[in-house]
Amino acid sequence: MKLQPDFLHEFVPGNSNRTLLLLHGTGGNERDLIPLGRELDPNASLLSPRGKILENGMPRFFRRLAEGVFDLEDLKTRTHELADFVTASVRHYKLAANHIVGVGYSNGANIAASMLLLRPEIMHAAILFRAMVPLIPETLPDLSSVRVWISAGDQDPIIPASEAKRLAELLRSAGADVTIRFAKAAHGLTSDDVTTARDWLEKLE
Ligand code: MLT
Repeated sequence: MKLQPDFLHEFVPGNSNRTLLLLHGTGGNERDLIPLGRELDPNASLLSPRGKILENGMPRFFRRLAEGVFDLEDLKTRTHELADFVTASVRHYKLAANHIVGVGYSNGANIAASMLLLRPEIMHAAILFRAMVPLIPETLPDLSSVRVWISAGDQDPIIPASEAKRLAELLRSAGADVTIRFAKAAHGLTSDDVTTARDWLEKLE
């Protein structure tokens, strides 16, 4: 049985009913975040697709017109395609649909945020490293049963702290339970990001 829609992806089975949906940053691929996923939760299944857009040869999850300026039509289409891939993967790999936790870094965190806003049924929690507001939806979804953890870098030259705060406010206004923290860091992930995310995930239902 073929996945429809499909993405190039890695799937690593786990031994709990949680699945981490791993979404890489610009220039990454489906293998990048597997070690991070294992560090965050040694028991979860890992589902890690590769973004289909190529920007100068670098995979991404949606097109942008410039750094931080997104092609909104493409973003919406790609968000729905990714959400449909997750739904197809749940059936294909027999995953628990109500235990999908998104874990995104940079461009991957931005499409995860977009999926929370446009397809709120897909993830019950999300860890967003270095994320910004991807789009403002026409109507706010009901995220009252969704928990989100945002880790911003206080010296991030690509995503200013104000952008991460704007995302936290937007998700809160949709009812999500949002924790935002500022790491002493730039755009790259630090071991402190990973440890604090793991602690947050451990306490999640
Ligand atoms: C994006 O394009 O999603 C953001 O600018 C983050 C990045 O990928 O550099």
